[in-house]
Amino acid sequence: NTKRRQLVVGNWKMNGNRQENAALLAQILSGWPGQSPVQVVICPPFPYLYQVRDTLQGSAIELGAQNVNEEEKGALTGEVSAHMLADMDCKFAIIGHNERRRLQGETDDRVARKFIAAQHAGLIPILCIGESVAQRDQGLHLQVISRQLNAVIEVVGLDAFANAVVAYEPVWAVGTGKTATPVQAQEVHRHIRQQLGQYAESVRVLYGGSVKAHNAKELFALPDIDGALLGGASLDAQEFLTICSAAI
Ligand code: G3P
Repeated sequence: NTKRRQLVVGNWKMNGNRQENAALLAQILSGWPGQSPVQVVICPPFPYLYQVRDTLQGSAIELGAQNVNEEEKGALTGEVSAHMLADMDCKFAIIGHNERRRLQGETDDRVARKFIAAQHAGLIPILCIGESVAQRDQGLHLQVISRQLNAVIEVVGLDAFANAVVAYEPVWAVGTGKTATPVQAQEVHRHIRQQLGQYAESVRVLYGGSVKAHNAKELFALPDIDGALLGGASLDAQEFLTICSAAI
């Protein structure tokens, strides 16, 4: 996987406050070089985009959003458009995270429209897909992954993947401390690539789900894994930096 630039994305989810963010970012910035073969992105909660954007200015670390609304603008109280996020210097947007699919009822169709809205605004979508524990137990994981990915491909077209990232996050591994084994992860990542046609070898496919400093190296060594989407580990500077370095 030397052809693709490794990418580590920290998804802070609904965590942090101004003081904690400042301390975390200061530690991360002091430990991360101005230039690196690894691309690093931080996705804070919306209210802190300004703070994180200003703090990261001039560093090699980029900004991302945790979600976008699929509409351009209008009477949608409480929502945030992709254009607003681009205006705040976000470069990436997480789309279809399993917490949003499960807890906010995001359908495959809505996920596809968010993907389009993000690209339209110039953001790079990080499309999340992943099976539940029941689906894995029934041996349906590859089918579920195909369905989730194809639902987006059918709407956006394969060419949209020239500028997108895919993240495989098995739901049972998110926040549980249970990571997919290298064999499990590699199987799914290979399967994802096989659906991507001419983009199979160029799209970056990240793994997410309890990636920690102690298991990152092993996962990053797999041929079809190009980095990680981190939750918990992105809230600890040392852990985060160790994982970013493991991707070099
Ligand atoms: O988006 C990243 C995430 O869902 C993984 O969370 O806490 O298991 O690293 P965590």
